[in-house]
Amino acid sequence: MKSAEMTAADFDAPWFSPPEHLSLGGNGVHVWRANLDQSPSQIALFQNDLDDNERSRADRFYFSRDRERFIVARGVLRAILGRYLNRAPNSLSFRYSTHGKPALFSESDLDTIQFNLSHSHGTALYAVSRGREVGVDLEFIRGDLEAEQIAERFFSHSENETLRALPLSLRTYAFFLCWTRKEAYIKARGEGLSLPLDQFDVSLIPGEPAALLNTRSDSDEAHRWSLRNLTAASGYAAALATEGRDWTLSCWQWPQLGNQL
Ligand SMILES: CC(C)(COP(=O)(O)OP(=O)(O)OC[C@H]1O[C@@H](n2cnc3c(N)ncnc32)[C@H](O)[C@@H]1OP(=O)(O)O)[C@@H](O)C(=O)NCCC(=O)NCCS
Repeated sequence: MKSAEMTAADFDAPWFSPPEHLSLGGNGVHVWRANLDQSPSQIALFQNDLDDNERSRADRFYFSRDRERFIVARGVLRAILGRYLNRAPNSLSFRYSTHGKPALFSESDLDTIQFNLSHSHGTALYAVSRGREVGVDLEFIRGDLEAEQIAERFFSHSENETLRALPLSLRTYAFFLCWTRKEAYIKARGEGLSLPLDQFDVSLIPGEPAALLNTRSDSDEAHRWSLRNLTAASGYAAALATEGRDWTLSCWQWPQLGNQL
């Protein structure tokens, strides 16, 4: 069997069933993929693990499908983190940064495990690392978006130039590559949209490696981070941003949830 561990230079990574005993060192980054559409009994199990804050967020969804997917997304997050920490999923507490980035509450957990998640339609991705910031973004590729207008509003000048130079047939995909890479980077930084999206450039040409090319506020930033393309599932674009360059990626399929991908 091929190893699940790939170097940061690899373009795409395959998804593997996780081993029973997971090991995550300082130079590893794990990304998990999960299917959020689950049976009512599985959803009820995940719901039991949520805290009051997550339950009240779940209650605020208007559509039951969105509520259920949120419950599963948080339930799987707790189950994944619990595996690394050897703790019960319902014993974990989260805190949130000013801009909403979740982190583990306890000081000792905080020293070690860092994570980020993204969900789109019925799929979620979770990035987990030890001692380095991570950001992940996943988007279902929609053909009905006003991609050109959104790009003009949010992407940088050079990203827009690169996008417009591509053949029409590649532009929607390139738009989503750009979007997920920009989002993964701002999610790794944790500053939300307070970090102006046009103040940094990412690569976006399909087939070329993901990269943070320039950061105008601080030119060293581009060297501090690395970006990776993730092939989440057919019809999605996804990217991972990680602090540093000396890391290897392992991609795991959440065991109970792989049947529909
Ligand atoms: C909230 C935001 C961080 C991501 O939002 P999103 O892409 O809609 O949603 P995702 O599914 O990728 O991520 C949501 C998860 O990110 C995490 N998150 C929330 N705030 C975060 C922050 N400031 N930094 C990092 N992660 C954050 C949470 O875990 C959240 O999941 P939850 O609903 O279970 O709590 C933020 O970047 C945003 O609002 N972006 C707007 C998108 C946009 O306009 N993009 C322009 C084109 S580039």
